[in-house]
Amino acid sequence: MSKLLCPSMMCADFSSLEAEVAALDQAHVDIYHIDIMDGKFVPNFGMGLQDFEYIRKSTNKKVDVHLMVENPANHIDLFAEKGADIIYFHPEADIHPARTIDRIREKGVKPGIAINPGTSVAWFAPLLSIVDYVLVMTVNPGFAGQKYLEFVNDKITELDALKTSAGHDFTIVVDGAISPEKMAQLSKFGVEGFVLGTSALFGKSRSYKEMIKKLRSL
Ligand code: DX5
Ligand code: ZN
Repeated sequence: MSKLLCPSMMCADFSSLEAEVAALDQAHVDIYHIDIMDGKFVPNFGMGLQDFEYIRKSTNKKVDVHLMVENPANHIDLFAEKGADIIYFHPEADIHPARTIDRIREKGVKPGIAINPGTSVAWFAPLLSIVDYVLVMTVNPGFAGQKYLEFVNDKITELDALKTSAGHDFTIVVDGAISPEKMAQLSKFGVEGFVLGTSALFGKSRSYKEMIKKLRSL
């Protein structure tokens, strides 16, 4: 499977969001990554519903929503009905994650679980046969521009081994401080999706088209 390159839109230049989305579309990114936060599950607020709606109507490419919120089950229908293609939620924030996964699928959206750095594979393994994506957090969720947490590498290799041994078909995506070097390394660990923020895409001197082309060649 070719790499899924997912620009983390909380890192975009909001003074010209229309131009940002047009440039990212022309750079042929795969999935727009929208970080939604409630200030409780994480100590930050990320993007708003209007930001999601604006990006949704500005592109025909896939748009995901990364819910860093308590009780995510309360917000599935809203983002599904607003056009999310993938909804990631943190099972650590949900009493009944299997029910939430079912609800996401019932609404015609692909379900993904987002996993905090300190959460073990064993803890969420029962969910692996019913999700389409696993978003492995490689920073503590809530902020862009943080340092990559090297200890998460062991979890990624363990998850990839379990995916193979159990014959699961979810896609492994990583989120947080993903640099081009990290992409090259993690591609060898079975990672197929990469959320790209300030470490690999935004705030650089080169065009999105040039950088995406380079990242695809890694
Ligand atoms: C952090 C978000 C990430 C973040 C990635 O909670 O989930 O999407 O914006 O940005 P960088 O790549 O700068 O860590
Ligand atoms: Zn995210």
